[in-house]
Amino acid sequence: MRIVIVGLGFVGLVTSVVLAQYNEIIGIDIDKNKINKLNNNDLYIYEPGLKELFIKNRNRMNFYNDYENARNGDIAFVCVPTSTINNKIDTSYVEEAVKSLNNTNNKLIIVIKSTVIPGTASSLSYKINNYILSNPEFLREGSAVYDTMHPDRIIIGGKNSEYIETLSKIWEFTNAPILKTTNENAELIKYASNSFLAVKISFINEIANLCEKIPNTDVNIIAKGMGMDHRIGKDFLRAGIGFGGSCFPKDTRAIVSFSHEKGVDLKIIKAAIDINNNRINTALALIEKPIGNLKGKKILLLGLSFKNDTNDLRESKSIELANELINHNSIVYAYDPIIKEYPGINMVNSINSNDYDCIVISSEWEEFKNNALYKENKNIIDLRRIIDLDLYPNVKAIGVHYD
Ligand code: UGA
Repeated sequence: MRIVIVGLGFVGLVTSVVLAQYNEIIGIDIDKNKINKLNNNDLYIYEPGLKELFIKNRNRMNFYNDYENARNGDIAFVCVPTSTINNKIDTSYVEEAVKSLNNTNNKLIIVIKSTVIPGTASSLSYKINNYILSNPEFLREGSAVYDTMHPDRIIIGGKNSEYIETLSKIWEFTNAPILKTTNENAELIKYASNSFLAVKISFINEIANLCEKIPNTDVNIIAKGMGMDHRIGKDFLRAGIGFGGSCFPKDTRAIVSFSHEKGVDLKIIKAAIDINNNRINTALALIEKPIGNLKGKKILLLGLSFKNDTNDLRESKSIELANELINHNSIVYAYDPIIKEYPGINMVNSINSNDYDCIVISSEWEEFKNNALYKENKNIIDLRRIIDLDLYPNVKAIGVHYD
């Protein structure tokens, strides 16, 4: 099929590269810089496996700066960002993209992948000639290519059964179960899923707070024991400095404010946001324990991105921590496998130095799991619970009781 993809950020670019395996891709983005880079085979995002697949499928992808080429498409995925303004979702990019697509080619099947509040697709359907389908995205940054090829499920919302069939065929290669439903259900499934995962993280972070008060407890063991119950599941129970990124913080805020307008108070999600906002204070207290007053202390952070295997810094908890440390007059250094410069932070190229008052593991990259330094240096703090504490007894971690 000739698939138009509008918005070549994480979701759009990964979807393009994966679908180019079996289809012809017409990629559109209003950002000229992005299009120039892609035309020069320069990928501006880091994702494991993306570059290789991009090169392999390159001859079935074309990238443009305007909508003109959408004329030749059969189906279009809208993957533009939705931001929040005063905690409310702003769908203006989605509306703009849908209208531009419809003006160029009113035979196109339009599919919204962007995260939008329930009712968005239906409200747009009335304004244009096409029926709009919803097909929310569940890929995680850092494993975006894998997740797109091996999703747990495909959710399709919409009315037109012929269009739904066409969209189902595109995802058939994944062998994932497909749930066909209304646009509104599809839109809410996305918010409910992200919110539930955010709640799971805040839940285990609250248990981590409790563990810190009870001798002989460790939140990682509690999470392991809980996760052995398949009704609970072991994923997203890793305690740490909280969830960041471009999705959970924004989506939890948006669904709370949307629900408030509907007269529903989402208490659990609000509590999850609250707990998440407090994680940096917990982290600061743990860092202060061995080194005392933070003023003038040299602190090395390991990892700046919001999680491992990505260069994405949006709502990164590591950056929030770095800024707090700077506010406390610490001298902040950071090592990141990909990010090599950041204003106000002294970036270093290796972690093999004992020159710091404290080394803090602030995002969960595989390469931070082991280092001989952890045996030598007394002040290593694991804020992501990735270190084996039996192997490195010097390391102090979140969610463990210390006298
Ligand atoms: C999240 C969802 O997991 C995806 O399903 C969804 O498609 C995506 O949002 C989106 O809406 O586009 P993402 O934000 O890329 O994906 O990354 P996650 O792996 O979910 O991590 C989010 C944050 O939670 C990170 O800061 C991570 O460090 C943190 N986290 C994750 C924990 O603190 N503990 C955990 O156990 C898991």
